[in-house]
Amino acid sequence: MKSLFAGLAAGVLLLGQGLAGSAVAHESLKLEAPKPDLASAPPMGWNSWNKYKCDISEELIRKQADAMASSGLKDAGYQYIVIDDCWQSHRDEKGNIQADPVRFPSGIKSLVDYVHSKGLKFGLYSDAGVLTCAGRPGSAGYEFQDARQYAEWGVDYLKYDWCYTGTRNAEAAYTIMAKALRASGRDIVLSICEWGDNNPSAWAHKAGHMWRTTGDIFDAWEGQQGHSIGMTNILDKQVELWRYSGPNRWNDPDMLEVGNGGMTVTEYESHFSLWAILAAPLIAGNDMANMDADTLRILTNKDVIAVDQDVLGVQGRRIHKDGDLEIWARPLKGGDYAVVLFNRSAEAKDMRVTWEQLNLPAGLKAEVKDLWSKKVTRNVAGSYGGTVASHGVIMVRLTPKKL
Ligand code: GLA
Repeated sequence: MKSLFAGLAAGVLLLGQGLAGSAVAHESLKLEAPKPDLASAPPMGWNSWNKYKCDISEELIRKQADAMASSGLKDAGYQYIVIDDCWQSHRDEKGNIQADPVRFPSGIKSLVDYVHSKGLKFGLYSDAGVLTCAGRPGSAGYEFQDARQYAEWGVDYLKYDWCYTGTRNAEAAYTIMAKALRASGRDIVLSICEWGDNNPSAWAHKAGHMWRTTGDIFDAWEGQQGHSIGMTNILDKQVELWRYSGPNRWNDPDMLEVGNGGMTVTEYESHFSLWAILAAPLIAGNDMANMDADTLRILTNKDVIAVDQDVLGVQGRRIHKDGDLEIWARPLKGGDYAVVLFNRSAEAKDMRVTWEQLNLPAGLKAEVKDLWSKKVTRNVAGSYGGTVASHGVIMVRLTPKKL
């Protein structure tokens, strides 16, 4: 390993050069300790990036932690407060990573203690390259030193990005950090963020607890903005991925935009429902200290969250598609099903799921709860449906009647 990182030690940026791409490096980096069982359900929390990008500070993070604890989000299951890119400024003469002294004058440890004092958990961000995506120091060559530092600070979660990695091998790079975190002596969730570029379905579950499946989301129903894509564009990339997900190994279609203003309330309800049917990590990305009633109502919908967090951990599948009309479904513990009728068209549409589509006997009677209107219908046989608003969903939980 010495020669592998010699260039880094000399302070040379190795952009475009081989860092750890060889099979030899890969082989020597097999994980010995088992992955800690920290995400039996998809992680729930908040991350600074979607709303604030680099405009972050310890004051902002404290405010967000206060809001998570007092608004009802904590009670609904949200627990991680994650600082994304731009908290770091430089390394000291010993190579220790330093928080930006202007924006985080009290240092990370005191912020971690504050977040913990609210009964919440704390997450940080780094990158497997020499620099983070925003150009701050990355962890390449410093994995064990950084992991030790995170553990000393009391960090519970690491989002680990993939900018400025040159020709590094992704599996090897994430394996090194996983190994470093496991060696740190602290239980730390590893959130892998290589945007689905290096076939993470094949290996990411060994290193991390969740992995991004796409590039970044931006706060829009659809479209593209630089490298970021809209909510429905992200959804379309999840269709075939259900088989790779499960407890402690979640596909991550990126963070939530609910409450950030670029979509309608109906579209945010769809976004939240679809992320729940996908068993996605629910990482809010809005200003929790200033939420309107709809944003809070959506983010704390306990019935929808219960689908996301269901202990079976089976990611939902698109079981039907007819143009703009899609049906997504997933089995839940105890024989229940969650179903989303999703209308992507510009007009309201009547939609219906049949028991046949769910592989249930046609004569079976079920109780159906609409998870947004909260209306319960008993003894439903054969199918269930209704009028779905343009860009909206009907999301239900179906409980077959015991014979
Ligand atoms: C990448 C990630 C984002 C965010 C930024 C930070 O684009 O995919 O989620 O972390 O970097 O610079």
